[in-house]
Amino acid sequence: MSNMVTKAEITQAVAVLRAGGLVAFPTETVYGLGADATNEAAVGRVFAAKGRPRHHPLIVHLASAADIPQWATHFPAAAQALAGAFWPGPLTLILKKQAHVLDCVTGGQDTVGLRVPQHPVALALLQAFGGGLVAPSANQFTHLSPTTAQAVQQELGEQVDGILDGGACTVGIESTIVDMSGAFPVMLRPGMISLQALEQVLGMPVREGHEGLSAVRAPGMHPLHYAPRTKVVLLSTADMPVYLQSLPVSARVATLCLTTSLLTSAYRVTMPSQAEAYARVLYDTLRQLDQQGLDVIIIEQVPNTPDWAAIRDRLLKASGERT
Ligand code: TXA
Ligand code: MG
Repeated sequence: MSNMVTKAEITQAVAVLRAGGLVAFPTETVYGLGADATNEAAVGRVFAAKGRPRHHPLIVHLASAADIPQWATHFPAAAQALAGAFWPGPLTLILKKQAHVLDCVTGGQDTVGLRVPQHPVALALLQAFGGGLVAPSANQFTHLSPTTAQAVQQELGEQVDGILDGGACTVGIESTIVDMSGAFPVMLRPGMISLQALEQVLGMPVREGHEGLSAVRAPGMHPLHYAPRTKVVLLSTADMPVYLQSLPVSARVATLCLTTSLLTSAYRVTMPSQAEAYARVLYDTLRQLDQQGLDVIIIEQVPNTPDWAAIRDRLLKASGERT
């Protein structure tokens, strides 16, 4: 397991979860706010702790793909191929739900989101718990997802019964969500498992849809944010100097740059030039800048290539635009 979490802590966390409590735990993507997926009161506490609208469905986390038939009525061959290729890992599959799956978990839809995470602490917890755990990102609704235990503490503090500290998340942004409940696969949320990687395994095109709703439903009406409180402006490399010069000299500005030759600002962060490394540090970087009392965070747009697609999506959302 992780050098930071002991077997006794896992045992304690399982006892809390079985009693209907909330335990935040690390996954490889972001920290999740865990609760027993079969306990309606516990799931209700998750929504209350996050300030999350009730109709917003939650992902059920499982120890193994072998548990899928307990949650989904059909596990189509194509979905099994994705599970075989990417689980345990940062992929969520939307499948037709079993009748017993609670409406408060699925948002009243006839589908359920399922994921087998890769983090050793998450897997140890799920194995010891022996059932499904709902685990939305462990942040207040619309805030940035936490990628460290300290960030969970800031976001949810007293509202959780325990936090398992498994260190910084290695992927850093939320899982790729693919709806496999319909006639064709639809990617509802991009993640570090790219559209192209999904298509390669499936041997067919994958369409893009909207987060929060299965493909059969109308497009989502609810804008989602993954946003710091500080204003975020996303600019091309060429537009950055112009924008900086347009600001009053007194403006407190941070820049998140890929290009090293750009103008300096009070808080200048040079971000990693590889997509995987960039994703790993993005939320923690924004979270720390958000505490500096800045007027604006300027982010240099990232490359328009498939490996950066999920990061582009999150940057657009952080800057308040719909994708
Ligand atoms: O990486 C992740 O997925 C993280 C970690 C903790 O596993 N979890 C996460 O959960 O990002 P959350 O609740 O912040 O985002 C879950 C997303 C939401 O956009 C929700 O609408 C969508 O999954 N979702 C869940 N069930 C669904 C369903 N049946 N149909 C369509 N979308 C669904
Ligand atoms: Mg979230």
